[in-house]
Amino acid sequence: MEGAPAARIAFDRLAASYDGVTGGEIFDLLRKRTHAVLARAFPSGCRVLEIGCGTGIDTVFLAGRGVRVLACDLAERMVSCTARRVGRHGLERSATVMACSLGDLAPYLDALDEAPSFDGIVSNFGALNCVANLEALGALTSRHVRPGGTVILGLMGRTCAWETLYFAATKRPHLAGRRRAASPVPVPVAGITVPTFYHRVSDVRAALGSGTRLTSILGIGVMIPPPYLEARWQRVPPIARRLCISADRLLAPWPPFNRLGDHVLLHFMKERAAHD
Ligand SMILES: C[S@@+](CC[C@H](N)C(=O)[O-])C[C@H]1O[C@@H](n2cnc3c(N)ncnc32)[C@H](O)[C@@H]1O
Repeated sequence: MEGAPAARIAFDRLAASYDGVTGGEIFDLLRKRTHAVLARAFPSGCRVLEIGCGTGIDTVFLAGRGVRVLACDLAERMVSCTARRVGRHGLERSATVMACSLGDLAPYLDALDEAPSFDGIVSNFGALNCVANLEALGALTSRHVRPGGTVILGLMGRTCAWETLYFAATKRPHLAGRRRAASPVPVPVAGITVPTFYHRVSDVRAALGSGTRLTSILGIGVMIPPPYLEARWQRVPPIARRLCISADRLLAPWPPFNRLGDHVLLHFMKERAAHD
């Protein structure tokens, strides 16, 4: 079960305002961190499958760099936003977008006359936190990613240091550990309660299977607060903000900090076959 109906309704409702909601300085910083990783992983000419593309910010980033992207999202209005963004950038030849859930993707690709092979899979900013069971991701990786290919997953992490401090400071300790509560955690999105799954890194590894190796974990927003604290962040003196941003860049790749961000960016490589 994906918790899909609630997520579909919620993200359909959110689509029109999504770019505005995610348009602050914090989100911009977090997005830049993930784009630096995507740019290194996928040079021009690569073919990438994107799951939960939202309004297409990463789709257009990748396609604009010469990557061919097949993007999908559960929510049709998100798909329309992505299609419009792709059109505005004149990237129709590089990016294709379709309304499809993670669960339906492997059967769809399997049914094509010539099953496609990708250089990698991308899913960013929590699309997979809407999905209870990541088996479908494992199936896609084993059947549709070439040996040596890359899987990059941006997920909301189970421990966000800033969030824990914030809830402790605002005397709401019961919320401090909410990401570690028994799944699913009810999270309001555009007025709808969306069951949200804060996956363990070990569970994501298990879903991708032994043929895929976790090569790095990058914390996204380790020393920068979660985006919902944007208004408070803007009241912090600029010099302190700059210090946080620099500290974030330094600490985010290293344990234990790399697991303490609002999001974690997991970088997997599919093993090459023995004869490669
Ligand atoms: C928080 S948004 C992130 C969007 C985009 N990746 C980004 O970086 O801005 C999560 C997206 O995942 C999509 N989503 C949720 N569950 C999904 C599923 N099972 N299959 C495909 N997309 C899904 C939602 O519709 C939503 O657009």
